[in-house]
Amino acid sequence: MATKDELFKKVISHAKEFGFVFPNSEIYDGLSATYDYAQNGVELKNNIKKYWWMSMVQLHENIVGLDAAIFMHPTTWKASGHVDAFNDPMIDNKDSKKRYRADVLIEDHIAKIEAKINKDITKAKKRFGDAFNEEEFRNTNPNVLRRTKEIESINQRMGDALNNDKLDDLQQLIIDLGIVCPVSGSKNWTEVKQFNLMFGTELGAVAGDASTVYLRPETAQGIFVNYLNVQKTGRMKLPFGIAQIGKAFRNEIIARQFIFRMREFEQMEMQFFIQPGTQMKWFEYWKETRIKWHKALGLGEENYRFHDHVKLAHYADAATDIEFNFPFGFKELEGIHSRTDFDLKQHEEYSGKKLRYFDPETKESYVPYVLETSIGVDRMFLAVLSASYKDDQLEDGSSRVVLAIPAPLAPIKAAILPLVRKDGLPEKAREILKALQFDHNCMYEEKDTIGKRYRRQDAIGTPYCITVDHQSLEDNTVTIRERDSMKQERVSIEELPKIITNKVNMKNLFI
Ligand code: GAP
Repeated sequence: MATKDELFKKVISHAKEFGFVFPNSEIYDGLSATYDYAQNGVELKNNIKKYWWMSMVQLHENIVGLDAAIFMHPTTWKASGHVDAFNDPMIDNKDSKKRYRADVLIEDHIAKIEAKINKDITKAKKRFGDAFNEEEFRNTNPNVLRRTKEIESINQRMGDALNNDKLDDLQQLIIDLGIVCPVSGSKNWTEVKQFNLMFGTELGAVAGDASTVYLRPETAQGIFVNYLNVQKTGRMKLPFGIAQIGKAFRNEIIARQFIFRMREFEQMEMQFFIQPGTQMKWFEYWKETRIKWHKALGLGEENYRFHDHVKLAHYADAATDIEFNFPFGFKELEGIHSRTDFDLKQHEEYSGKKLRYFDPETKESYVPYVLETSIGVDRMFLAVLSASYKDDQLEDGSSRVVLAIPAPLAPIKAAILPLVRKDGLPEKAREILKALQFDHNCMYEEKDTIGKRYRRQDAIGTPYCITVDHQSLEDNTVTIRERDSMKQERVSIEELPKIITNKVNMKNLFI
C-alpha cells in the first residue's frame, strides 16, 4: 500500500497528466503556488460550485446570491481590521535565509509528536489484535500520556502567545522546542515579526497611500458593504443570508501543499444575518448543515472532524473548522465563524452610514449579528480529488487508476464510444452524443482499443461509458459500463437520457 506521501505525489502528477491542474505559466518554469485548472479540472471545479450554490442559495428561501467586485474602497480594509490585524507571525532562519510562519513551525513540531503517538498505537494494535481498545490505550500508556501532555502544553503556550500578540514568547517556544530549519538544519533564528497578508496595488496613474487598493483577502467584505442594499431591494427579513463565490488573494509566507495554500484562490462564503443573542443556535445549525453537505458526497465519514479555534480571529466570538483528512493529514477545509456585529458596526463607524435592521415585529432598530460559513473551492477540489484517487488491483491481475469522483461532480458524465471506427458505428455514437449533450457534459472518443478507452475514462472519473457496437445498429441497444463496479448492462438507446439523468443528478446528494 502507498504511504500518504506517495499517494499525494501520485495525485499531483495524475492531476497534471489527466488535465485537471497545471502549474501556472509552466513554460516560464511556473510561478510559485499558482495553478491553472485544466479541461477536466474546470468542470470538476464548476460542479463543486454548483453543488454549493444549490445547497446554499437554491434550496434556502432566505439566502440570495451576490457577485461583488474584487477591488473595494480602501477604507473597507481599515474598517474590517485587515490593514492592522491581518498578519501572520513570521520568522527567518539566518543561515538558509528562508522565511517561515512561526505558528506553522510549531504545528509541524506537534504533528511529529502526533506521528509518534500514532506509531505506538499501530504497534499496539498489531500486538493485541481484536482485543485492542484504542481509547483505553490512549488513557493508560505512559508514552502516549506523556506525549499528549506535551502537545497540550505546547498548544497552551502557542495559543497564549498568539492571542496576546506576544511575539517574543513565540520565538522562545521555537527555541525551547529545539526546532531546526528544514533547509539548513540550524537553530539560528531571527526574532518573530508580523507580516501583512494583503496584496496592494495602485489605482490609476497616481502613486501613494491615497490610491492604494487591495486585492480582497476574503469575499466576505463585499457582502457586508452590500448588506443593506440586498436587504432593502430583496425585502429580506431576518434571518437571511447572502452567498458569494469569488477569488481572494493572500500573500502567504509559505504557500505549499499543491492547491491547499495558494496566493490566489477561490472562496465560497455565506454571511447569515441574525438577531443578536441567537448566534449560538445558528452556529450549531450551520455546523450541522455544512457537515451534512460534506458527508453526502460519500468520501468517508471518518475523513471529517471539527476543530475549535485556539486563537479566535479579531471578529469572532466562536469559531470552528471542518477539517478533512488530506494526504498530508487533517487540515482546515471550511471555517464556521460567529462574527457578531463586528463588521457591520465597523462599516457604520468608518462610512458614517447606518447599517441597521428595522425589526417589524419588535419595532426596534439594531445592527444584526452574523454567522459565516467559508470554504475554499480549491481545498474542496483537493479533498474530492485525493479521496477519489484509487490504485485498483483487478481480479485478472491487471491494475487500473480510477477516480471514484461522486457522479454528480464528475467532469464528464458519460463517454460515448463506437467499438470500431467504421460500419456506421461512429455516426450512431454521435447521434447518442447529440441526444445527451444538452443535459450533460459528455465526450465522444473513437481512438484506441475499447479497453484502453475505458481506462482513460476511469482515470478522469467518468461514471458511465456507453459503447456502440454492431448489435446497436440492429436493435437500437448499447452497453453501459459503470466506472466503479465495471459492470456492463445492455440497454435501449431511447432509455439512455433517463438512465444517465437519474444516475448523475445532483439531487441525489440531497436525498
Ligand atoms: N471570511 C473568512 C475567511 O476568509 P479563512 O479561514 O481565512 O476565513 C476561509 O478562510 C477558507 O478559505 C478556508 O477554510 C480555506 O478553505 C480557504 N483558504 C484560506 N486561505 C487559503 C489559501 N491560501 N489557499 C487556498 N484556500 C484558502
